[in-house]
Amino acid sequence: MLQHLFKRKPLSLVHEEMKGENRLRRVLGPWSLTSLGIGCVIGAGIFVITGYAAHYKAGPALVISFVMAGMACIFSALCYAEFASMAPVAGSAYTYAYITLGEMFAWIIGWDLILEYSVASATVAHGWSKYFQNFIGIFGLGVPTPVSNAPFEFDPTKGGFIATGTWFDLPALVIVALLTVVLVIGIRESTRFNNTMVAIKLAIVLLVIGVGVFFIKVANWQPFAPFGWAGLSLFGKPLWGQTGADGAPVGMMAGAAMIFFAYIGFDSVSTHAEEARNPRRDVPFGIITSLLVCTVLYIVVTLVLTGMVPYDQIDVNAPIAAAFERVGLTKARFVISLGAVAGITSVMLVLMLSQPRVLLAMARDGLLPESFFGAIHPRFRTPWKSTILTGILVGLLASFIPLGILAELVNIGTLLAFVIVCLAVLIMRYIHPSAERPFRCPWVPVIPILGVLLCLTLMLSLPWGNWLRLFAWMGAGMFIYFLYGRHHSVMARQRLADQAANAGCEPMSP
Ligand code: ALA
Repeated sequence: MLQHLFKRKPLSLVHEEMKGENRLRRVLGPWSLTSLGIGCVIGAGIFVITGYAAHYKAGPALVISFVMAGMACIFSALCYAEFASMAPVAGSAYTYAYITLGEMFAWIIGWDLILEYSVASATVAHGWSKYFQNFIGIFGLGVPTPVSNAPFEFDPTKGGFIATGTWFDLPALVIVALLTVVLVIGIRESTRFNNTMVAIKLAIVLLVIGVGVFFIKVANWQPFAPFGWAGLSLFGKPLWGQTGADGAPVGMMAGAAMIFFAYIGFDSVSTHAEEARNPRRDVPFGIITSLLVCTVLYIVVTLVLTGMVPYDQIDVNAPIAAAFERVGLTKARFVISLGAVAGITSVMLVLMLSQPRVLLAMARDGLLPESFFGAIHPRFRTPWKSTILTGILVGLLASFIPLGILAELVNIGTLLAFVIVCLAVLIMRYIHPSAERPFRCPWVPVIPILGVLLCLTLMLSLPWGNWLRLFAWMGAGMFIYFLYGRHHSVMARQRLADQAANAGCEPMSP
C-alpha cells in the first residue's frame, strides 16, 4: 500500500497525455502569460496590506521585507519555471509533485492549491467589495446596508464571532458571478479582460510612484527599522526579536511573512501551460518577468509610501489613497480607488481561472471525478463545469463567511506549495538527470535549497493558529483521498491491471 501512495507518475506519461484530444485552446503568447501573472499578483496586497504591515510590523524597513519575500518568491519562481518547461501541463505544482514525490504528495498539493486559488479569490472578493463601495461612495452612491457585508465577522479582541447586522455581501457575489461568466466563455475573452485591468492598474501604480516621489521626506525613513530587523517565531512562539501589543512578533521578518500575500499569484502562470502556444519557452518567461516587474514596483511603492507618511501615521485601510489626501491631493482618492478595484478584479479573475485547471489535471489522473472536473466545453474549450463550481464556492465564501481567519491560510498554503516545488526540482535533477529542460534553474542545488529555507522561515513565522488550520484542512483532504482518489486514480487502476496481467486473469474494478 505504501508503495502505491508514493507511486510517481512517469514524466513520459505526462508528455504522452499532452497529445490527447480533450485539451484546452492554445492561444497565449509570452506577453499574455506575463499579463496574467501581473494580473494575479498586484492587488489587495499592495493596495491594503502594505499599510498595516508598515504601521504595525516593520516601519520603513518594510522595503526590506518586500526584498526578503521577493527573494523567496524569485527562488521558487526559478524552480517553477524549470518544471513548467519540462512538464507544461495545467496541473502546475500538483503535477510536479506527482512526477517526483508520488501520488499522495500530489494530492496534498492539489488540495493545498485550493487554499491558494479559491480561498484567496474569496478573500480578495471581500476586499474588492470594500473598495467598490468606497469608490461609488465618491459619487454619493451606496449599496443598501443589509446586503453590504457578510452577516458576521470574527472579532479578535473578543475571540469570537459578532453579528454585523447585515445579510450578505451582494457586491462580492455579483463580481464573482460576472467573472465566472467571462471565464466560462473563453480564455481569449478572459485574457482580453485581464489585459485591460492590468493596463489600468499598472498606469495607476506608475502614477502613484511618479507623483508620490515628489512628496517624499527623507526624515520619514528615520527610524528605518523601529520594530527591529527580526520578528521570527516558531509555530507562533517568538524566537528572535520584539513582540507587538497582541503578543505576535514584529520586525522586518514578521513584515515579510505578512506581505508575502502581495506576491501570491505569479505561479498561476504555470497553470496556463496547456493554453500557451509555446509553453516550454513562454511559461518560464511569463513567471519570471511578471514576478520581477511586481517586485520592482512593490519596492518602489513602499519607499514612496513610507517616505510620504511617518510609518506610525500610515492609514491601515486605504494607505495609498490616504497618503495622497494627506499631502493635499484629495482627487487622488478617485484614481487610486479605481486602480484598486481594477487590480483586485484581475487578481480574482486569474485565481478563478487557475483553480479549475488544477482540478482538471487532478480529474485526468482519476483523483477527482473526471466526468465533472474533466469536462471541457465543446465550443468554448474551457473546463466549464468546474469553473462554475469554483464560482459558486468563491461567491458563497465571499458573501457569507468572514474571511479574516481563512485569509491567513492562503499564505501558509502557498508557501507549502513553493517548498514542495523547490524540493521537487532537486529530486527531479536526481531521478531524471538527463531529461530535456528547456529552462534550467541556475545554481542548483543552491537556489532550490535557499528557496526551501526562506519559504520555511516565512511559514514558521506565521501564527500557530495557521498551522492548526492547515493541519485541519490537510486532514480533511486526506480523508477524501482515502475515500475516493486512492481507489480511482489512473495509477491505481494501472497497478490492478498489472497485477491481474501478472496473475493471468481479467483486471478487477478498483
Ligand atoms: N497577490 C494578490 C494580491 O495582493 C493575491 O491581491
